[in-house]
Amino acid sequence: MLDQKTIDIIKSTVPALKTHGLEITKTFYKNMFEQNPEVAPLFNMERQASGEQPKALAMSILAAAQNIDNLSAIMPVVNTIGVRHCDSNVKPEHYPIVGKHLLGAIKEVLGDNATDEIIDAWAKTYGVLAEVFINHEKEIYASR
Ligand code: HEM
Repeated sequence: MLDQKTIDIIKSTVPALKTHGLEITKTFYKNMFEQNPEVAPLFNMERQASGEQPKALAMSILAAAQNIDNLSAIMPVVNTIGVRHCDSNVKPEHYPIVGKHLLGAIKEVLGDNATDEIIDAWAKTYGVLAEVFINHEKEIYASR
């Protein structure tokens, strides 16, 4: 599990990241689709164009991170999103791709304000979240 220092950093940076949320999410998708085009077919591009999906995915990672010390609070959401992911055929190997581009987008948008300490805390937290989703989605796939 995460150490208290990491949790404190996450809690103190979520509001700032949400302020820049749209810019972060747009940067995230642009870089991911350019550098990992293999994941693009999983996404509904109409929702991309409308701006609806950019908000949903990356913003929900930020929101979920806020509850990293109380994961039971987000389990209902994990289930809803997990069903959607399994409908879209999201697989464990996709998680590092999303993580890489989420961290990259945070760095790109926040610039020097994104210190190594902040990026490191986000990397650890994303890893924990990804594991929660991957394990839950394994169960959903197995039940189908
Ligand atoms: C912890 C990591 C993640 C979180 C919190 C997250 C969150 C979300 C949310 C909130 C939605 C919208 C659900 C809805 O509309 O009801 C969504 C949909 C989706 N996510 Fe994720 N996601 C994560 C990781 C991933 C990964 C690794 C992939 C694979 C590249 C992925 C691909 C998708 C796809 C394809 C959709 C359906 C949207 C569409 O059709 O365009 N997500 N995700």
